[in-house]
Amino acid sequence: MDRSKIIVKSPGRINLIGEHVDYNGGYVLPGATDLFIQFSFSNSKKKYSEVYSSVIDKKCKIYFDNLSKRVIQWENYLVGSLISILKKRKVELKNFNCLIEGNLPLGSGISSSSSLICGFIKGIDQLNNLNLNNDEILSVSREVEYDFIGLKGGIMDQFTIINSKKNNFILLNTADNSAEFIKSDLGDYKLLLLNTNKKHNLSDSAYNKRVEECQEALKIINDSGYNIKFLTQIDVKELRKIKELMLDNIFNRALYVTQENNRTIQSVQYLKNLDLKSLGKLLYSSHEGLRDLYEVSCEELDYLVDKTRIYDQILGARMMGGGFGGCTINLIHKDFIDTFVSEVSESYSSMFSLELSPIITSLGEGLRYKV
Ligand code: GLA
Repeated sequence: MDRSKIIVKSPGRINLIGEHVDYNGGYVLPGATDLFIQFSFSNSKKKYSEVYSSVIDKKCKIYFDNLSKRVIQWENYLVGSLISILKKRKVELKNFNCLIEGNLPLGSGISSSSSLICGFIKGIDQLNNLNLNNDEILSVSREVEYDFIGLKGGIMDQFTIINSKKNNFILLNTADNSAEFIKSDLGDYKLLLLNTNKKHNLSDSAYNKRVEECQEALKIINDSGYNIKFLTQIDVKELRKIKELMLDNIFNRALYVTQENNRTIQSVQYLKNLDLKSLGKLLYSSHEGLRDLYEVSCEELDYLVDKTRIYDQILGARMMGGGFGGCTINLIHKDFIDTFVSEVSESYSSMFSLELSPIITSLGEGLRYKV
């Protein structure tokens, strides 16, 4: 097969519920967006490789014999991917040209960086006949973010980007990475994302701090006589019994994680029974937990969630992703989207001097390619 030109499409990810539990061995319920990054790879005869992103109108040169850390972050995603690929396969890679296009918004809590990494790895894999299977792409992409970028995140984003199926959520058990596809049947309701356009940087200490706090909670629990591997394995009642052993913020993180894990499991039942009203209530509880116990929300996200509460046509809303900015996810009646969006956009921009970007999304395919 002529592998001189490869097109890869890599989606973003949304998460219906199960936030900040993927590094605590819990259940998450994400899916791929129908928005994606598109890569066009071709071989190059030059002594270096070139990547041009039309999305940000930036280009970068890559020399395989100088894959060191860069000052510009998006270049690090590419360089880090090449380093991890070369660790996995001791081969000589061919120089290439890569054009990056697409409609996936950047830095909005829908995982554009993981999407960039996974798509880039897939293209290099195909161009060089490396035969990386999905599990290998998963481990390579995880290594880039964890070790090279330094974000101590869980597995949810990359797993979803690589494995999603159209119109399905994935019930992913992050304790053992087993997954079940759950058909998304939302009837007259749609998933509306409202992008705050407040920029967040997840490698910021705040995300990693939450990871550390969860590890601390787990240690205290085990030191008090339990023997659990993940924070999600203690139930809320047991946790309350040892509350006085922890500082308040550590207890709150642990309480949120156990409650959120339960909410995810419950949500799947509601989805299967088409009980969207009850599902919506869980989205609100999830937001409250993220805001008050886990403390990863922000004014803009809280404002957008609160704005939905008076409308019967919106069954639930919450912040989505790592937090501190990014998007809310709203379960909203299809006929009410336009009215709500125009109302909330106006009040949001006058309140925060930021533009609000609405994204109506359905669940799309995972990573795919064409030769
Ligand atoms: C980011 C991380 C994920 C997950 C979410 C929060 O998107 O990359 O692993 O922890 O935050 O649920």
